[in-house]
Amino acid sequence: MKDSAPQTIRLADYTPPAYLVDTVSLIFRLDPNATRVTSRIAFRPNPDAVTRDFFLHGEELDLKWARIDGMPAEPVISEKGLTCAVPDAPFVWEAEVEIAPARNTALEGLYMSNGMYCTQCEAEGFRKITYYPDRPDVMGIFTVRIESDLPVLLSNGNATDQGNGWAEWHDPWPKPAYLFALVAGELVAHADRFTTLEGRDVALNIWVRPGDLDKCAFGMRALKSSMAWDEATYGRAYDLDVFNIVAVDDFNMGAMENKGLNIFNSSCVLANPETSTDADFERIEAIIAHEYFHNWTGNRITCRDWFQLCLKEGLTVFRDQSFTGDLRGHAVKRIDDAQLLRARQFREDAGPLAHPVRPASFVEINNFYTVTVYEKGAELVGMLKRLVGAEGYDAALALYFDRHDGQAVTIEDWLACFADATGRDLTQFARWYEQAGTPVVTATESHADGTFALTLRQETPPTPGQPDKAPVHIPVAVGLLAPDGTEVLPTRVLELTEAEQTFTFPDLPERPIASLLRDFSAPVILRHDQSPAERALLLANDTDPFNRWQAGRALARAALLDRLQHGADPDPAFLDGLKATLTNDTLDPAFRARVLTLPSEEELTEAVAAAGRTPDPMQIHETRADLRDIVGAHLHDALAETFAAMQIAAPYDPGAEQAGMRTLGNLALSYLTHLEGPSRARSQFEAARDMTQQLGALSSLLDIRDGGAELARFRDRWQDDRLVMNKWFSLQIARATPAEAAPLAAKLAQDPAFDWKNPNRFRSVFGALAGHPAGFHAPGGAAYDLLVDWLIRLDPVNPQTAARMVTAFETWARYDADRQAAMRHALERLRARPDLSRDSAEMVSRILG
Ligand code: TRP
Ligand code: ZN
Repeated sequence: MKDSAPQTIRLADYTPPAYLVDTVSLIFRLDPNATRVTSRIAFRPNPDAVTRDFFLHGEELDLKWARIDGMPAEPVISEKGLTCAVPDAPFVWEAEVEIAPARNTALEGLYMSNGMYCTQCEAEGFRKITYYPDRPDVMGIFTVRIESDLPVLLSNGNATDQGNGWAEWHDPWPKPAYLFALVAGELVAHADRFTTLEGRDVALNIWVRPGDLDKCAFGMRALKSSMAWDEATYGRAYDLDVFNIVAVDDFNMGAMENKGLNIFNSSCVLANPETSTDADFERIEAIIAHEYFHNWTGNRITCRDWFQLCLKEGLTVFRDQSFTGDLRGHAVKRIDDAQLLRARQFREDAGPLAHPVRPASFVEINNFYTVTVYEKGAELVGMLKRLVGAEGYDAALALYFDRHDGQAVTIEDWLACFADATGRDLTQFARWYEQAGTPVVTATESHADGTFALTLRQETPPTPGQPDKAPVHIPVAVGLLAPDGTEVLPTRVLELTEAEQTFTFPDLPERPIASLLRDFSAPVILRHDQSPAERALLLANDTDPFNRWQAGRALARAALLDRLQHGADPDPAFLDGLKATLTNDTLDPAFRARVLTLPSEEELTEAVAAAGRTPDPMQIHETRADLRDIVGAHLHDALAETFAAMQIAAPYDPGAEQAGMRTLGNLALSYLTHLEGPSRARSQFEAARDMTQQLGALSSLLDIRDGGAELARFRDRWQDDRLVMNKWFSLQIARATPAEAAPLAAKLAQDPAFDWKNPNRFRSVFGALAGHPAGFHAPGGAAYDLLVDWLIRLDPVNPQTAARMVTAFETWARYDADRQAAMRHALERLRARPDLSRDSAEMVSRILG
């Protein structure tokens, strides 16, 4: 059934719920095609309500009966839910519905994956389980009884009782429905325990299918580190007797923070050295931390409405970033986060899907789980911390936890904690939450009579629905270096609040070299003209590691853009700076690898577009490849030495130290393979003891159109491992030539192992294609048509995952007329589908404008 006109929901229209929930008790009689859900909900009128209209959300439910205070009720049912006459006093609602989890392919609500039952309720999936006020400002205490023959029956909170074919759970913490979870299956647990700082002995379990038990140890370690870190850093302890994690193969996103019962995409929790890369380990550690940290930032304190999503997501991302930085090093983590932000969030902010960190309206909330809400949202927390200092931040967070525990709150509540705890006026800062677009900060310098003057101008470009922008409050961390490379002014945070401001630094007889936006202190585009010599000096000497990397980045970008436009050879300052970095053993290998990696094709495309020119994806691809070979030739001996020096004899460890060495080793291997041919990569593939080495070698081989035999052997070896097979699919597409990428994706989509209903597998082919700029935009538009053909197929089955992949087209306006026409045509074809989901329809119409 389709709703006629998709409705726009607005923040400005928020009204408090008419009725609040005290307690909920649910009984599930599980059956693949006819699960019965009985609910008993204690409601009471909300004293703060503006109406007495009783409404329960409910979609695709077959209501068997309903009672109010034991008497038959007569609800009026619509596609969205039901209304009913109810007492203007506390009452008990009871109802029974029937649902069919086996037919639920959207993976929202109660569904099945490999014979196991599981749920996904955020944001609005609970309404597909039973009638309920499915909004985060309604919080209830849940008791759940599950009846099923399956051996493991889980829900939120603590296990209270169980018998043959049933189990009961009680969650003492009031929670919104989006945090509800249920799992039932033939599962086994990797178990451990943790004692909290309050002395609570907590049982920890990671539940998996029996064959996956050898992939749980790392996740368990990450969980325990996260629990200890949140205690030590934020003073937050866990609050139940058990913490369960379940790995599920069919899952739309990464993982979900359901109270006491986190559910994970299996790719985000299962790992061992044979099957997982260092990058997988780091990502898994961060996601486990993220979901665990939500227990306080999201669950104990939740969002009043979905417009406040960044309240939990931006803060929780900021917390997981800090955690990873503490465990693995802040400099490299900051570089990686800044790169992600620039590659994905700046792109979103510059295109038709741009929206504020706190959007003002939406059609489908699932479309707003974006890099802007998550990653830019985290940057806003980081800027607040920089503005009020570490102590001010701690005081603000302590106040936030104290004042709002158990509540569903807003960004205003959050900012008030900072203002109240530190006395700072944050009214201008609040604009960051309302205003979309990436501010451009232009820096100009002058030096006279021993005074250095730095002028900063800010401008935020127009975005859809927001033609005029006001200045935002930008912390700009600055340091100054003398021409000999010594630091003459340690980091100081300038506050740019006007459209233009000049900051002066006296007592500097020599003109200094400015290191601006240290540690990437704000999510802005910095325009700052510096000579190659100045940049080389910063690359060699800056005390701020982020800006050291940034200086190398600026050199690399300039080298690529010069070559692209004028066929110029790279400046020797760039090549020498890279060599000095590569051979500097005092620098962390992970950091050296970041400096030695050339900007991606995506980053260059954006740089070309930002300069007002039309990017040619093929030319960008070739130019980057040329420069890679020039750099490789210039650094050849150093690369060979580095490759040898990065070999590890010790047993595999997924920690930062070894991972950094393998990253640099694989990078050197990739340069060397282009220069010398396949032999080193082939030997590494043969000798590889872990997936990082195996995949690094295979990737280098495929890059030089070799590795066919290795690819086949890789498949033979890993055909029964779903997660490794995802890599088999995606790597070949990522390494294909531009002309081969789309035909290869089309071919792989016919492979018997291509289970397109599994989101991970779908993304392993089509996400890889969309992530290969030259392949996706290869002349002729075959990739556009292929992707749309498959989105047309996926949309009715899984609208959430289909809609997310429509973002592949968000950059259409950057390109030349032929590509624009081809992309628009492909999108029109999708738009014309008679039953297109609300999810995809919203994305297509926003992208086409
Ligand atoms: N709240 C989850 C997180 O950030 C993400 C999430 C939102 C999600 N909606 C989802 C996960 C739907 C899976 C499916 O941690
Ligand atoms: Zn989250």
